[in-house]
Amino acid sequence: MDHAMSIDSTEDLFVSGLKHAYHTEQRLVDALDELEQTASNEELKSGFAEHREETKQHIDRIEQVFDQLDADAEAEEDPVVEGMIQAHEEFMEKDPSDEAIDRFNIAAGQKAEHYEIATYGNLIPMADQIGLDDVADTLEETLREEQDELETLSEKGEQFDYGELEATE
Ligand SMILES: [Fe+2]
Ligand SMILES: [Fe+2]
Repeated sequence: MDHAMSIDSTEDLFVSGLKHAYHTEQRLVDALDELEQTASNEELKSGFAEHREETKQHIDRIEQVFDQLDADAEAEEDPVVEGMIQAHEEFMEKDPSDEAIDRFNIAAGQKAEHYEIATYGNLIPMADQIGLDDVADTLEETLREEQDELETLSEKGEQFDYGELEATE
């Protein structure tokens, strides 16, 4: 990879963002598996599993976009998603109760969705700006799924049954 290459056009900026999004989505497949495996609530577990399947499609769509751009699909490490994964690992080391993990996982999932929404919410207008209407449409499908997932998780957070967590001082 040529690190000397500068980013000085909207297309460069778009491709750079796409490479980070590619890395993010790949890491989120593993992260969603971790959220599913560590959760106790069945509905929460299946929700993470479903979004994990959608996330695999998000990866496919990014690969389609690289294809549409006639570029090789290439991932560039995004430190933000790595930080989110690390935060979950550190939380798990604190011997949390099952309910504490479920509540933490809802918030962790929401943070990832907010981040993805910000990512696609910026890639789409950049694609429009450089006249890549088909690319914008492809990414729009992903954005809608991220927004739906955020809404689902937000409801789960609001309606969370604190159970045993409530009894502790
Ligand atoms: Fe995604
Ligand atoms: Fe997502």
